[in-house]
Amino acid sequence: MTQSQSEAQAHREQAHQEAVTFPFGRPSPFEPPERLTSLREEGPITPMVYPDGATGWLVTGYSAVRSILADPRFSSRRELLHVPMPFPLMQEMRQPADPGMFIRMDPPDHTRYRKPLTAQFTVRRMKQLEPRIHEITEERLDAMEKAGPPQDLVKEFALPIPSLVICELLGVPYADREEFQRSTAVLLNLESSVEDIRATLVNFSAFFARLIEAKRADPADDLLSGLIEGGELTDQELSNIGFLLLAAGHETTANMLGLGTFALLQHPDQLAALRADPSLIDNTVEELLRYLGIIHVGPLRAALEDVEVEGRLIKAGDPVTLSLVAANRDPARFADPEHLDITNPATGHLSFGHGLHQCLGQQLARVEMRTAFPMLFDRFPGLRLAVPAEEVPMREKMSIYGVRELPVRW
Ligand code: HEM
Repeated sequence: MTQSQSEAQAHREQAHQEAVTFPFGRPSPFEPPERLTSLREEGPITPMVYPDGATGWLVTGYSAVRSILADPRFSSRRELLHVPMPFPLMQEMRQPADPGMFIRMDPPDHTRYRKPLTAQFTVRRMKQLEPRIHEITEERLDAMEKAGPPQDLVKEFALPIPSLVICELLGVPYADREEFQRSTAVLLNLESSVEDIRATLVNFSAFFARLIEAKRADPADDLLSGLIEGGELTDQELSNIGFLLLAAGHETTANMLGLGTFALLQHPDQLAALRADPSLIDNTVEELLRYLGIIHVGPLRAALEDVEVEGRLIKAGDPVTLSLVAANRDPARFADPEHLDITNPATGHLSFGHGLHQCLGQQLARVEMRTAFPMLFDRFPGLRLAVPAEEVPMREKMSIYGVRELPVRW
């Protein structure tokens, strides 16, 4: 060991004696935890203890988060990761990812799955989905209007839209969509027991097995048929990929729609600016992605070898939690990051990650948001909260942040 390495090692050991735990608890719906901000102010990388006793790192500075996400010396393999929060299916971590669950794999496995999927997430398919997203949104708005105010926007709008869009993408037949929605609701309900979640996962896998069989017999112009036609994936892989798309694309988009609506209602000047100039919608979506910080925990990585990043020695095997929330509010990267400003060019945020694992569904999520927000505010020009803002229940201590319910009137 050279002198500089042993100094770094001593520094590391001392730092770990002062390790923090992962900060939750936001002071207001749109502010990050104060501790997260103060940690970033102290330095971009902080030693952190995980609930399972492991020690690793919390990365809060924009440039450190971005560089680690782009660095192949940091792994996404599930068996190497530690989760910085108590987590119901904890035992299932620390084991290799199931076939097809490429979000928790490194190349070459990751590449083998991601490549055929990228070929399915084409501009043509996204364009094809656009009118369907429009129709799905219209149907939800009609149902809300018919039922009359007050309504919970999460239940009636933010959750069903992404779930129906994923049905559309995968080619789930209409007759099966209710079952799909019901199972999704169990998986996403915070009150569901671990037993219910496990049982639903078993049902889901049977559901996908039936769907794959049907697509094999009668292929259509949808993603699942396209993957089957490629001929490279087993039924189990296809079924897990279907589940991954649901898990990765549903709750995320739903929380952007729910929390995003709340944010626009609470920033009437921003909503008025968008109404006055609808061409601001693209920028509004990007700024909401940056500002809301819905991916509260992660991405997660583990170092495959010793790596020095911005003055910290991260040792092989160390778990690393990257805070997209803190990175997206880093004043070293963004001018005036604490304010929602839809007129500020909102480029460079890390809300879809960066590097090899950068979100596969980002164009789809963007189309959903660009369609759903304007349609909602056009349909209900008088949309407002049906309860005081302080009473809107938030999803705290969750890996995806957002509103649990959003009672609205119009
Ligand atoms: C606003 C909504 C969304 C947000 C904020 C979001 C965010 C992210 C982030 C941060 C990652 C990187 C994870 C990592 O580096 O470990 C990711 C990966 C991924 N996302 Fe999204 N996502 C969204 C919507 C979607 C949608 C709609 C889909 C699909 C229908 C989707 C599918 C995926 C998949 C498959 C991956 C794994 C990619 C890989 O490992 O190569 N996401 N997403």
